[in-house]
Amino acid sequence: MCGIVGYVGRAEAAPILLDGLRRLEYRGYDSAGIAIVDGGHLETRKCAGRIAALSKLTTERPLTGSFGVSHTRWATHGKVTDENAHPHFDASGKLALDESCASTVDVDQKKARLLAAVRAALQQVIGTYGIALIHADIPDFMIGARRGSPLVLGVGKEENFLASDVSAIVAYTREAIYLHDFDIATVERGKFEISSLAGTSGAHQVSKLEFTAEDIKKGDYPHYMLKEIFEQPNSVRDAMRGRLSLEECTAKLGGLNMTPAQLRDVGRIVLTGCGTALHAAMVGEYLIERLATIPTEIEYASEFRHRNTPMTPDTLVFAISQSGETADTLGALRESRRKGFRTLGICNNVASTIARESDGGVYMHAGPEIGVAATKSFTSQLAILTLIGLLLGRMRNLSTTEGSRMIEALEALPEQIEVVLKLSDQIKAIAKKYVDANGILFFGRQFNFPIALEGALKMKEITYLFAEGHPSAELKHGIIALVRPDLPSIFIAPDDAVFSKNLNNIEQVKARKGPIIAFTSGNGAKRLKETADEIVSLPEAPDCLMPILTVIPLQLLAYHLAVELGRDVDKPRNLAKSVTVE
Ligand code: F6R
Repeated sequence: MCGIVGYVGRAEAAPILLDGLRRLEYRGYDSAGIAIVDGGHLETRKCAGRIAALSKLTTERPLTGSFGVSHTRWATHGKVTDENAHPHFDASGKLALDESCASTVDVDQKKARLLAAVRAALQQVIGTYGIALIHADIPDFMIGARRGSPLVLGVGKEENFLASDVSAIVAYTREAIYLHDFDIATVERGKFEISSLAGTSGAHQVSKLEFTAEDIKKGDYPHYMLKEIFEQPNSVRDAMRGRLSLEECTAKLGGLNMTPAQLRDVGRIVLTGCGTALHAAMVGEYLIERLATIPTEIEYASEFRHRNTPMTPDTLVFAISQSGETADTLGALRESRRKGFRTLGICNNVASTIARESDGGVYMHAGPEIGVAATKSFTSQLAILTLIGLLLGRMRNLSTTEGSRMIEALEALPEQIEVVLKLSDQIKAIAKKYVDANGILFFGRQFNFPIALEGALKMKEITYLFAEGHPSAELKHGIIALVRPDLPSIFIAPDDAVFSKNLNNIEQVKARKGPIIAFTSGNGAKRLKETADEIVSLPEAPDCLMPILTVIPLQLLAYHLAVELGRDVDKPRNLAKSVTVE
């Protein structure tokens, strides 16, 4: 939610700051701005709209100078206008602040005074912030601070950076320090210092960056979303890499930081997250109950804190978040830990606040996900939840035979995903055929009910079409009133134990002239021949693993339909990738 970049060095700052903003554009793209100091003079350009508009502005009226800050905004308070674009300035116009004193003394004193002023001001700030600040009278000196919003310090040679996310700076440095809440950093060309808001200095670790600038390029793909959909054979493989033990027919998850005895004592599980991560949690509920027979519940992270959820002492809580920065999920994690429950994270971003604040967890290793609509992180979350179910199940009733069958099926997934991806052209043809649809309904049962929700969410996010997901059986309890010829129904109906039930529902829609698009497997295609208008046949897997295969064609359908409709797939309106506000 909003992205900031700061640079101090010897190169021209403007191209670096703009390039950083382009890489952070997924965090928000309502307006953007840049402020650079040159020869004691602070110049700024800012405007409503995308980074491309800011780039045009800086081409028409170039900025020179080797230190400055830039910002891309996702509006929370205040309209999307040129005026509300950041950076913001103090009354003198000499101090530029991304996100959120002058005198005649020497430079070192000015630096100390500015730092003291920022510290005093931040002590009064209520709420979260991540800031980068410069002053026209203090050359080559930036201040960064964070509380709640992520901020990293990129360490270079004779140049240093501040950024909301390492992707903004990974092209310029391979080393970064992930600042902690209440840190304040002073950043100069050849040095930096980090202290706490209270004024004490502490040790900080310089981390080697996990990915390169290449990893965050679109390559030959027209959109990040498509690239990330096609990365799923590898991202699912990476989620399982080194975590399957054929010998013991179980999963190995060292990061949980729990002994076998503690794992065996878990009596109840709560899975929490938002949006797509919550849908993964919903599949996880079915998975863990199936594999480990542990009572499992899902909680909207945003509701968790505001409910009196009855918790037993043997409850284990998982906070699921790709970014690891989602405010609602972080709030749920903190509340759960405050009450004394062991709370684990399932995150993609290893340096994130949720990853840091949880008692342990499992990393997704999915690589950077830039497309605003989550795709590969979802299937990685499902793979990890399966591993958790397998591990806990093998400590309880799950036999070695069942355990080894699960492992075989898990290992087959990456190749099966390759097969699903080959259906992209068939799905594109379906998207073209239904481009004038007035909305889409999604239905599924059991493990595929959350996939109906996820399919509908993807569709809403990037096509802006009305879309709803439901358990298939709910159809007859009201939704059937919506059925009409210009509103297709998507059924996720693999050839499993509930196929016949799904078929009944499909026939009910067909009888009312609703078009049917069916995603099935095995003999399903044969049995659907008379009823479904479109049939997409998927590879077969155990029912609890089918969601990993059934969600991918729905991601593709949303993608192709959005492209047909001319939508901005990677930057859908009103959305931002990482939601660090409540
Ligand atoms: C949907 C989507 C959002 C996120 C949600 C949680 O495509 O991207 O619904 O899933 O905002 O984000 P994380 O997983 O970063 O906590």
